[in-house]
Amino acid sequence: MKKLVVLTGAGMSAESGISTFRDSGGLWEQHRVEDVATIEGYIRNPQLVIDFYNERRRQLPTVKPCRGHELLAALEQDFDVTIITQNVDDLHERAGSTKVIHLHGELMKATSSRNPNDPSQIITLDADHMDIKMGDQAADGSQLRPFIVWFGEAVPEIERAAEISSEADIYVVIGTSLNVYPAAGLVQFVPDRAPIYLIDPKDVPWTAGHRYRHIKKGASEGMEELTKMLKLIAYD
Ligand code: OAD
Repeated sequence: MKKLVVLTGAGMSAESGISTFRDSGGLWEQHRVEDVATIEGYIRNPQLVIDFYNERRRQLPTVKPCRGHELLAALEQDFDVTIITQNVDDLHERAGSTKVIHLHGELMKATSSRNPNDPSQIITLDADHMDIKMGDQAADGSQLRPFIVWFGEAVPEIERAAEISSEADIYVVIGTSLNVYPAAGLVQFVPDRAPIYLIDPKDVPWTAGHRYRHIKKGASEGMEELTKMLKLIAYD
């Protein structure tokens, strides 16, 4: 099967009702990035940051995967699909996608403030334990924190994501403004032979030299169109 690699951003989940960051009305108009999405902000005011992600997490049970998520999961019938997502929600998994790399962490996980990337410190939260509270401890005794990659922190999954991008036969980019590095740089790794499809209702700053085909639609409508196109080349 051909290797299909998909890079998704906040626009992927917009139709499920989760706000994007930089569109008008987006999360970064209502909250200061420096306060809630940087390691310095967390050190300054851990309660504020923990509460911000508690609020995001509590939204998850109230939303569902959109048609776009479902169509991506269905592509696994004809392609070897890996999704590299910047999203911290679990909508790709809930739609049935089996290989999902979360570059920026996962809302439903929590970890240690001292060793955030140590796998033995990472726990999965559930319906009975949705909120992180000040005083909750990780296994190493430090304050439990959201398993989110903040600005200023290393992105541990980026090397695996770059390697997978470099092996793609077909590459798809959905709903990301390509503002945030290193995620935005992944398109540079896509081999010249692989076609790239971009699904986004707006123009996106494209720095890679590689040509791409822009499907200027939202995630669900765009995925309907892309699915038809991919059926034609699945077994070429
Ligand atoms: P942005 O909010 O920067 O970009 C969202 C993109 O989705 C834009 O290009 C929109 O045009 C597009 N979009 C909007 N509605 C859409 C729809 N219905 N279907 C498809 N596309 C749509 O979000 P990201 O690029 O994901 O990181 O942001 C990247 C990172 O910045 C996030 O992971 C987050 C943020 O700060 C951290 O918090 C570390």
